[in-house]
Amino acid sequence: MQDIHVVRKDNRHLYEGYFDPYFRLRHEIYVKQRKWMALDRPDGREIDQFDTEEAVYLFCIDNDQLIGAMRAVPTVMPTLMSEIFPYLNMRGPIHRSDVYELSRIFVIPERRGEHAGPRVDMLLLTAIMEYGLSTGLTGFSIVLESWWLPRFERCGWKARPLGVPHMMDGMSVLAVLVDCDEGTWTTLCSQIGLSKPVLTWRGLTGVNRRSLPDISPRVQPTAQQAQ
Ligand code: COA
Repeated sequence: MQDIHVVRKDNRHLYEGYFDPYFRLRHEIYVKQRKWMALDRPDGREIDQFDTEEAVYLFCIDNDQLIGAMRAVPTVMPTLMSEIFPYLNMRGPIHRSDVYELSRIFVIPERRGEHAGPRVDMLLLTAIMEYGLSTGLTGFSIVLESWWLPRFERCGWKARPLGVPHMMDGMSVLAVLVDCDEGTWTTLCSQIGLSKPVLTWRGLTGVNRRSLPDISPRVQPTAQQAQ
């Protein structure tokens, strides 16, 4: 069974052994497989200027193996949107303590698609909402390829475009702002069959956060109530 771990500067020492495989996986997936050659580095690790101390990572770990991940960067710091793709955001820069920028979501190829339990990508999308709600975030900014939009729609993520899509290296790319709210989180949990929060906060007892409640199953209205 996989667990989703919150990794931040406060507990990074507990996950140090995962970082080298993590950056190597990013290189394998983004440079070798997706051919995003601008991210290539001779040491075979994909690390950029946004992998700072302030970055928060969600690591999906199964039997000590990293099988998926996502990165969240505070928008009060430089982000992909502010530094590399500012022209995608026609509404002006986002520098807000309650908004983090998401990037580098991936699942290792062997664990993509349908599986017996909840899909790893859906778990990550649910887990980042849980992280945001727990730590007082209200939104996530993202630079993404437009094929994400129907996926977001299906899983209840509310994404508002911040500008028009641009074609880049054959990809249609745009900037969006996604609401981080309890409704989205509970809808996702119901969709994938979770009845309680999933995040592991190992070594993060000092972090100021709200404990989220268990999720009660959706009660279907009876025939009489519907009339
Ligand atoms: N272009 C267009 N659509 C894509 C896509 C791409 N590069 N990658 C995934 N999709 C869409 C497709 O609709 C695909 O449906 P298909 O099976 O009909 O092709 C669907 O997503 C399912 O994707 P799949 O890869 O089977 O698995 P998943 O849903 O478990 O995982 C990702 C989705 C994005 C997490 C996984 O594909 C991945 O890790 N990709 C590499 C990293 C990446 O590109 N991340 C996004 C940018 S940071």
